[in-house]
Amino acid sequence: MLEILVVDDEQEIAKALQDFFTEKGYNVRIATNGKIAMEIVKEHRPHLVFLDIRMPMMDGLSVLRNIREFDKSIKVIMVTAFGTKEIMLEAKRLGAVDFIRKPFTPAYLKHDVIDKVNVQLFGDLREEIEEKNKLIDKLEHLNEKITRNFYQTVMSLAAALESRDRYTHGHSERVDMYSRIIAKEMASFGLEIDKKFLDNLHIESRLHDIGKIAVSDIVLNKPGKLTESEFIEIRKHPGESAKILSPLDNIQENIDVIYAHHERVDGKGYPARKTESRIPLRAKIIAVADAFDAMTSDRPYRKAIPVETAFRELEKNKNLQFDGNVVDCFISAYNKKRKDSMSRKVQVGSGALEKI
Ligand SMILES: [Fe+2]
Ligand SMILES: [Fe+2]
Repeated sequence: MLEILVVDDEQEIAKALQDFFTEKGYNVRIATNGKIAMEIVKEHRPHLVFLDIRMPMMDGLSVLRNIREFDKSIKVIMVTAFGTKEIMLEAKRLGAVDFIRKPFTPAYLKHDVIDKVNVQLFGDLREEIEEKNKLIDKLEHLNEKITRNFYQTVMSLAAALESRDRYTHGHSERVDMYSRIIAKEMASFGLEIDKKFLDNLHIESRLHDIGKIAVSDIVLNKPGKLTESEFIEIRKHPGESAKILSPLDNIQENIDVIYAHHERVDGKGYPARKTESRIPLRAKIIAVADAFDAMTSDRPYRKAIPVETAFRELEKNKNLQFDGNVVDCFISAYNKKRKDSMSRKVQVGSGALEKI
């Protein structure tokens, strides 16, 4: 609690200040002479002192000098009925922070005196808050810069993977595009999808297969059917992605999603055989976008299939491999986009949907 000391030989004046500031929540002590005042100052170190100038035994200026010698951080406001200009100047020179005149009217206490006290007691605090706000601004700016750099790193990682694997060139970019289409369609049906969700989905789509960097070229680009051991190797890529990304502090939330992009809602997926409710929504979205792009793009072991055939595959696997709602949203959103694109005479086809 903030402590105030009122030093005045006139009891009524001291009492008026004490009552007023006690009501405002301060702890207010009274001293009727300089000697008692110094004892209280030494024992309680008040934050602020109202100090009368004319007092018997020790006058206000002497008390002020003693207070300042004891502790310069104590604020002293001089209280005077008839102080001369010289006395005021001397008090200021000795370190008094302000002056008030007595006797006090209620209005003078309520407006002027309280203002002076607030300036003295909270002025420093205000400066401190302003300084802190400036620091917060700087940190936010720095944080934005780090986030921008982080996004650039993400893009470089994705590009590094795709430059190794000619068949999946553009794959993560298209998965990113399809995932966004799905999320926006789900939002139009009332699902709460905010900017943070979309930003996370962007990172996760772009990096979902980053673990394939650890898969050998022979397996990755094999033109024929994979053997059982080659399947095992390729199925390690979600775990490898998690390992590669784990040192990045601000991506921890995304790793769970990336790790789960090959899970199936019927629990027959990999690597953890998670079921329905344990698979993050964004992983379910990426799973549909990923499968659609895989089906509609050329792969080393087979040619791309038409969009309608891919849709039928997605439908067939609703609530088995894929979340049914996600499939429905994707097909309806894709068809809407395709219609829009056609009406704008933009060529569309497998994997060539206009970018949103
Ligand atoms: Fe994958
Ligand atoms: Fe993929």
